[in-house]
Amino acid sequence: MNTGLDGVVAAVTNLSQVDGEAGRLIVRGHDIEELAARFDFADTAALLWDGLAPGSVEGHLDGTAIRQALGLARLRAADRLPLLLPAAKGLSPIEGLRAGLAMLGDDDCDHLLLCAAVPVFTAALWRQTLGQPAVSPDPGLGQAADFLTMLTGRPADQMAARALETYLVTVADHGLNASTFTARVVSSTRAGMVSAVVAALCALKGPLHGGAPGPVLDMLDEIGNPAGIEPWLDRQFAAGERLMGFGHRVYRTRDPRADVLKGVVAGLRGGPNRIALAERVERAVLARLAERYPSRRLDTNVEFYTALALEAAGLPRQLFTLAFAMGRVLGWTAHIFEQEQTGRIIRPASRYTGPVPRGRTLAAVAG
Ligand code: ACO
Repeated sequence: MNTGLDGVVAAVTNLSQVDGEAGRLIVRGHDIEELAARFDFADTAALLWDGLAPGSVEGHLDGTAIRQALGLARLRAADRLPLLLPAAKGLSPIEGLRAGLAMLGDDDCDHLLLCAAVPVFTAALWRQTLGQPAVSPDPGLGQAADFLTMLTGRPADQMAARALETYLVTVADHGLNASTFTARVVSSTRAGMVSAVVAALCALKGPLHGGAPGPVLDMLDEIGNPAGIEPWLDRQFAAGERLMGFGHRVYRTRDPRADVLKGVVAGLRGGPNRIALAERVERAVLARLAERYPSRRLDTNVEFYTALALEAAGLPRQLFTLAFAMGRVLGWTAHIFEQEQTGRIIRPASRYTGPVPRGRTLAAVAG
């Protein structure tokens, strides 16, 4: 039985297409490499929400209007901090973000506020763990630059802001991944956008999905230097552990986003030792995985170079999954709009293997 729903088509979408054999990702008519090079977060929002967001007419939603609206939405999000921050004391950043999004009301929240709330809440939650006050958003800045400024309390380094913006665009949408599917399931019950996004964040948080890049850095730390690679891999395989940043349900080749992000890291640091070590680790892991699973091609996924890109942009690893949410919330909201248009509840079937009441057959029970 196909318990992981591999290859099952559960939605019709015009948002993105993942070609796992060719290693290609298309987002609304753009290859991911082109999108990452040419679009910022607001342009990508306009692309994804075009013709779907309330009041938008296909072909007419533009990045400038969205950039302004997102800036104002970040101010609206900051108004929620006095309620969130005391409630989130003692929670980890991802738990705090989950709580913060859950505190948004169905009636006064929209896609703009949700997309603005993720960076505003993340920065303030992190500063709270450091004992520092929240920094107000600057609606005139781009999404990544404003996030970095709110995070550090200093004007964002332009290169770091550009790198983070590229990251947000690169991960904005990716077919029916686990969190997006979750968003569509919840949305299909007409629970509303806030509930669907909270549920999506819960799915994203797992280490097999968006929780992988923090452990990727832990892995590089533990390995330490090239001599440590093979012994570390021996230990991992002996313990039956999965290697974070490798393998993918759909890709049978390299995840195209990995190379986009590798380019981001190289551009930020001009080829530091960390990339050199990461490349050697990558080669060694791929060789081991090929040896162990000769009939199942396992390659590098987006999370491997995400870890290096986010570290290079100055983010602490505890915020990596939240940064992923900062980008992917665009895709979630677009899919929710799309799902709302189809109007059909997502309700698959299960095969019962439990006991049957005496005197009855399974078919009779099912009927
Ligand atoms: N390390 C070691 N073994 C692996 C890995 C890995 N990274 N990935 C898959 N395998 C093994 C599986 O355990 C399985 O072995 P088995 O047959 O002995 O049980 C075999 O390879 C085949 O697994 P798949 O069917 O290819 O894996 P699946 O599609 O179920 O899972 C997943 C995909 C969750 C991404 C998996 O590859 C994994 O756990 N990777 C590590 C976590 C990770 O990097 N997650 C981020 C993914 S990208 C994203 O979500 C944004």
